[in-house]
Amino acid sequence: MSKGWFISFEGPDGSGKSTQISLLAEKMKLAGFPVYQTREPGGTLIGEKIRSLILDPANHEMAAVTEALLYAAARAQHAEEVIKPLLSAGRIVLSDRYMDSSLAYQGVGRRLGDAVRQVNEIAVGGLQPNRTFLLALDPAVGLNRIDRAHDRLEAEAIDYHRMVYQGFLDLAQQHPDRIRVIRADQPSDQIHAEIIADLIDLDPGFEKLAEAIR
Ligand code: TYD
Repeated sequence: MSKGWFISFEGPDGSGKSTQISLLAEKMKLAGFPVYQTREPGGTLIGEKIRSLILDPANHEMAAVTEALLYAAARAQHAEEVIKPLLSAGRIVLSDRYMDSSLAYQGVGRRLGDAVRQVNEIAVGGLQPNRTFLLALDPAVGLNRIDRAHDRLEAEAIDYHRMVYQGFLDLAQQHPDRIRVIRADQPSDQIHAEIIADLIDLDPGFEKLAEAIR
């Protein structure tokens, strides 16, 4: 495959995104694909600094709009410094969260609406993933899997997380060509297999993934 691929993973906290992204990255490396694993907020030095600012539980006075702009700023840096150059070089970029997280958490959860999409369009200049895997899991189940008070966002009330989750499901309905919903309440191996099957569907060039042993 000559062109780069941009694949994002989305879902509620505790949905197992990070496990799946690592499994896929490992499998891609074994199969000889030029894969690069990254995450948001973060992925760059500047982005990681913004990440600590946003997630610090001490920053409980942060206004919703400040939060949205900080996520978008971290994403702008990530897109310019990391994602776009890698895609131009023909690499496969796997990102743990991207723009859909802002649309769901800030747009829907914080009720900032379409302004979040607009500011993110400016941030990334229209760069969208070729494929997004939404790991679907009841937020109450996800939050039970993790330490709830871990960061400022995770510590929000369950109603907030339910709104965010509905936001993700609505996005999947609006973008059926890009977003694949995968049930996250299944064994990890099964989820991994579904992701690989979908990628092979997307491009037969990914066939080698089915042969690589983990
Ligand atoms: P992350 O560390 O990826 O948490 P998790 O391991 O649960 O995925 O993300 C930190 C938090 O930031 C998470 O609660 C989701 C939230 N978030 C937003 O609210 N908006 C965004 O644009 C992004 C990228 C993350």
